[in-house]
Amino acid sequence: MKTRITELLGIEHPIIQAAMSWASSNAPLVIEVSNAGGMGVLAAGPMRPDDFRNALNQIRAKTARPYGVNIPLNNPRAPELLDIAYEARIPVMVASQGGPREQLPRFRSIGTKWLHVVASVEHARKAEAAGVDALVVDGAEAGGHPPPAQVSTLVLVRRVAKAVKLPIVASGGAADGAGIAALLALGAEAVQLGTRFIATPEASVHENYKQAVLAAEVDGTTLIGPRTLPIRLLKNALTERFHASGREDQERLYKEASLKQAALEGDIENGKVEAGQSAGLVEDIVPAGELVRRLARELEEARRRLASL
Ligand SMILES: Cc1cc2nc3c(=O)[nH]c(=O)nc-3n(C[C@H](O)[C@H](O)[C@H](O)COP(=O)(O)O)c2cc1C
Repeated sequence: MKTRITELLGIEHPIIQAAMSWASSNAPLVIEVSNAGGMGVLAAGPMRPDDFRNALNQIRAKTARPYGVNIPLNNPRAPELLDIAYEARIPVMVASQGGPREQLPRFRSIGTKWLHVVASVEHARKAEAAGVDALVVDGAEAGGHPPPAQVSTLVLVRRVAKAVKLPIVASGGAADGAGIAALLALGAEAVQLGTRFIATPEASVHENYKQAVLAAEVDGTTLIGPRTLPIRLLKNALTERFHASGREDQERLYKEASLKQAALEGDIENGKVEAGQSAGLVEDIVPAGELVRRLARELEEARRRLASL
């Protein structure tokens, strides 16, 4: 399938593995996805500079295909991570949380394609005006940080597609080819999946985390955190305590618990088990490359089904 995104990035399928702190902060997942014709994205946010450099070296050694790097621009360590990404001449930047204007020119000068993550019409317009190559539009179903206003992917992607000319990668809620087809029908030109890729052997989270995603139903997630920047995660002892607490205790609980605790230590009761509503659609652990090929097949089936109606 050819779209403006597959052409821009030079990938075979309109399928992107979303950046996920810890889960995709390692080379193998990115390599497998990119080698299968999708695009893998390394989540640099939680990585130490040396680990980041090593992962980039591994990726470059094991795939000749395009890959992306996600850097949250408001991360205090972003300047260092950006320098490393620049030195490595990464093919694709997936930037989140912060404006692109300052960094765009130097990455442009080395040919990097810049995808900018947005979660509102206003930010989509701003990113377009700043000159990015494409947008990643995150809807409310998404794991991690969904839009504070909680507009669903179904509505937000459609609205942004009407508001801007740039090609869009839809993000949030897709776990199979039918979901990808639905988001392409709205005007997206590729779809990014996060939660679905947690259930792969290559995702670097604890086995408990993967099993929790498999066990979750579609109503198995909730939101916690500040109203201006909530996170979506699986319901557990932490989210129960959070919702039963007053504001001060909520702030403390939110600060004390971490994604790392769940992802690396396997404490899925007291840690932040970030995942999207699509966890309820995930039924098996599949090698990442096989998953990309399966998603591409399912997408074709969904197109055929629609055409036959
Ligand atoms: C465990 C987890 C960690 C995430 N970490 C990041 C991150 O570091 N940077 C980022 O831009 N988005 C992050 N996200 C959001 C994803 O990139 C993506 O928007 C989301 O997973 C899409 O929704 P889905 O999970 O329904 O596919 C994270 C999501 C999850 C589930």
